[in-house]
This record gives sequence, structure tokens and C-alpha cells, in this order.
Amino acid sequence: MSAKFAVFGNPIKQSKSPQIHQLFAAQFDLQIEYERLLSTEDRFASDLHDFFSRGGHGCNVTAPFKEQAFAACNEQTVAARRARAVNTVLRRQDGTLLGHNSDGIGLVKDIVVNKRVPIRQRHLMILGAGGATRGILEPIIAEQPTTLTIANRTIAKAEQLAQEFSDLFRIQVTSIEQPHYRAVPDVLINATSSSLTSSVPVSDPGLIDAHTLCYDLSYKIEPTEFLQWAASHGATNCFDGKGMLVEQAANSFKMWTGTEPSTADAIGWLEHLNE
Ligand code: ATR
Repeated sequence: MSAKFAVFGNPIKQSKSPQIHQLFAAQFDLQIEYERLLSTEDRFASDLHDFFSRGGHGCNVTAPFKEQAFAACNEQTVAARRARAVNTVLRRQDGTLLGHNSDGIGLVKDIVVNKRVPIRQRHLMILGAGGATRGILEPIIAEQPTTLTIANRTIAKAEQLAQEFSDLFRIQVTSIEQPHYRAVPDVLINATSSSLTSSVPVSDPGLIDAHTLCYDLSYKIEPTEFLQWAASHGATNCFDGKGMLVEQAANSFKMWTGTEPSTADAIGWLEHLNE
């Protein structure tokens, strides 16, 4: 019998998670079912429980349900508790739901292992102070950067995040329009939702020099507006979130199956997709 998995979201038909997880399963000759499930805010909690009562083994959760998934789980991992959001759910033997968040783990793996850019002892800046930023902070801090700055339009939201993580790291806060920074960031991460409005979140070209890794958590077929802006100001090391997507999926897969898939084929497949 094949194990049942799914991804919940709204919209969901664009999700590449089913193909990514089938590529992982094939590496271990595992038979899995992995479906896309559309839900709504009103129905999400009951849809989730319904999936597991139909024999679901685990699921992914994407926008806009990650906070609701956090609330629906019986227990959460440390990563999920810091993110206050769940993108991976495992049904345990006793029927209880364990919620995890693999987004930040996936991002760090993509930057440090795949792109071979260290975070340790480097200057980092994250643009944006919403849920996407909260979801990646703990694994980034665990790498021990020299400085970590959050730049946001609404400074109070960045200050709130800095306060939330103050037991782990002294995060600097600045305005995204007129950012202050001690050194040009070695790694500049766009965690704003600027791609949704096809806008560039930042305008100071001094944030970039030729060696700065510019990373956008989102991705499109064409380079995102942020990455186009970065390249036009001399950045040569520009990446979108496809690698993160595959690496967070690999971390979920490992939690569900106990096996760690190789990610290179799935990243290559995603990079050559034209839709
Ligand atoms: P998500 O869950 O994707 O993080 P969110 O919690 O709504 O979504 O947060 C979106 C973030 O992107 C916020 O930090 C927002 O800035 P504000 O807090 O000032 O609203 C930021 N953002 C969205 N569009 C932006 C843009 N065009 N330029 C700069 N920042 C933008």
C-alpha cells in the first residue's frame, strides 16, 4: 500500500510539491500518493483532520494556512514554535499531529551547501519583517552570522521580530527606504512579498557589491524584480527560491520517511520548467 501525502494551500494548482516528492520517493523505490488540496480559512482545520482520518501519513501546508496549521497540531517542533507557523505535518502512531517548519532549514541548506556561500561570520540583511522572515530567522541565527539586520518599511514590525529573537541574537533594525548598515551585506535576502506586486522592495544600490549573494525567497519563470534590480547594480551571485523550495521539501520528506533524498535532480527539473 502506498503512503498518502498532500499539500494544502489556496491557490494550490501551481504547487510543484507533488512532482518534487515523487522524484524523492523514486530514489528509494517508495510508492507514494501526493495530492494538491485546496482549502479555505473556514474549512482548513476540518480539511486537515479529514485528510488524516482518511489515512494521510503527512502533509505540507502553504499560504495562507501555515499559522492555522500551527494551531491545529498537537505539538510543534522548536523550528515551528519560533516561526509560529507550520509547513509540515506528521501524523504520529498515536494519531496526534506533530507540526514542523522546514522553510528556514531549506533556505540555509540551499545557501550554505548548494550555493556554497557561508553565513557564519558574515554580514546578513533580510528585507521584510512578515511571516516569511519569522520563518527563516532561527536557522539563520544558528549559523552565527557576524551581523543580522532586518530592513522593513514598517520599522515597528522589524523591532518586534528583533525583540522576539533577542534571546538568540542581537538583530539590528533599519528602514528599507534608507537603510543603515555597518558593512555591505555578504548575503542580502528578499523576504518581502514584493514579487506579488511585481515591485522592487529596496532602492539603495550601496547594499550590493559584486560578491553579495542576492537571494529572493520567491521565484517566477523570469528573474524576480528584486533579482533584476540586484543584477543591474552589479550583483553576480543572484538566486531565487527554487532551491529553497526543494530543500524544504527534502527536510519534510526526511521527517516523514526517515530517509534524506538527494535534491540535485529536483532542483534541475524545477529550473528547466517553463510554466
Ligand atoms: P509574508 O507571510 O509573505 O511574510 P506578510 O506577513 O504580509 O507576508 O509580510 C510581508 C512583508 O513584505 C512585510 O514586511 C511588508 O512590509 P510592511 O511590514 O511595511 O508592510 C513587506 N512588503 C510587501 N510589499 C513590499 C514592497 N513592495 N516593498 C517593500 N516591502 C514590502
